[in-house]
Amino acid sequence: GTDGLVDRFGRIARDLRVSLTDKCNLRCTYCMPAEGMPWLPRAALLTDDEVVRLVRVFVALGVEQVRFTGGEPLLRPGLADVLRRVAEIAPRPRTALTTNGIGLDKVAARLADAGLDRVNVSLDSVDREDFAALTRRDRLPQVLDGIAAAVRAGLTPVKINAVVMRGINDGGVPNLLQWCLDRGLQLRFIEQMPLDAGHEWRADRLVSRAEILDRLSMRFDLTPLPSSARGSAPAELFCVDGGPATVGVIPSVTAPFCAACDRVRLTADGQVRNCLFAHSESDLRGPLREGASDEDLARIIRGEMWRKERGHEIGLAGFHQPDRAMSAIGG
Ligand code: GTP
Ligand code: 5AD
Ligand code: SF4
Repeated sequence: GTDGLVDRFGRIARDLRVSLTDKCNLRCTYCMPAEGMPWLPRAALLTDDEVVRLVRVFVALGVEQVRFTGGEPLLRPGLADVLRRVAEIAPRPRTALTTNGIGLDKVAARLADAGLDRVNVSLDSVDREDFAALTRRDRLPQVLDGIAAAVRAGLTPVKINAVVMRGINDGGVPNLLQWCLDRGLQLRFIEQMPLDAGHEWRADRLVSRAEILDRLSMRFDLTPLPSSARGSAPAELFCVDGGPATVGVIPSVTAPFCAACDRVRLTADGQVRNCLFAHSESDLRGPLREGASDEDLARIIRGEMWRKERGHEIGLAGFHQPDRAMSAIGG
């Protein structure tokens, strides 16, 4: 198809987010319970061949960037191979990875060589105790090694994602920015979305965009960049102390970017999903294993995109949190 993956509201999906596993070696409170999740059985996971085949179908449908997520995508044994094969697709999609950084120090160079263009690393705090409280694992040093290795391997710009949680890392917001400024990293603060496995998210606990900016303004001089600099990216950008450094805020709850959303998702078990908050998914794995053609798969994908809603309605009366948690959907 040449007319792109369009939905009823005229949005065109160009950014595919592929979850490679639902497993993770951290237990961030905004995502997973301490005991982990009932992991998907192996047979339910797409194989490397199946992932590559489906990415090819999405690229034929107009996808220009493929981001691998999880769970934690570095836990997928075939990651480098999948990247190498995806980077061989014509036209070559841009490639990116969203990771918690653990183990990245050992593989950053190999992934860059395989065709990975850039990484986003989740880092909610540079205080070891706050990090451990939030992720329930004392792994801050490994994450910092991973970030340094990503920079050395040229997986740039390296973006840092920080979900702000009241009473855990909200006091460390200015420190985290200073730490990133000192290293030339692009930091984005994220409003917590109701995607935690425990369904404990509460609107009145939210650390909002406004509160994040207030906390930053006590230490830094922020000037908003024109919204044209944002495009379909989720982050609102601010120039720090006259620039050139910037800091981002991803206000997914109080100022959602749904109207400009250009995303589509493929879950680790082979479902196409049109939104983080969708209540529907369409199965690609079954048809794929039963011999479906590329045209058959494309038809299923187009059908699911046509069901995409105008936006999520977090905070409104009709909002229902999706059944699957973030780690199973893919960030
Ligand atoms: P860039 O292309 O580097 O800007 O990546 P990104 O910000 O799109 O991806 P990343 O995986 O780093 O995610 C950053 C934050 O944006 C996370 O909290 C994601 O959950 C959130 N996010 C990503 N995609 C969507 C989406 O489709 N809808 C909403 N509401 N949030 C999203
Ligand atoms: N709300 C907002 N962001 C989240 N992430 C994980 N869970 C949530 C949530 N409930 C972030 C991770 C990672 C990215 C993929 O999504 O920190 O950086
Ligand atoms: Fe793991 Fe990411 Fe979920 Fe944290 S947010 S537990 S790093 S999948």
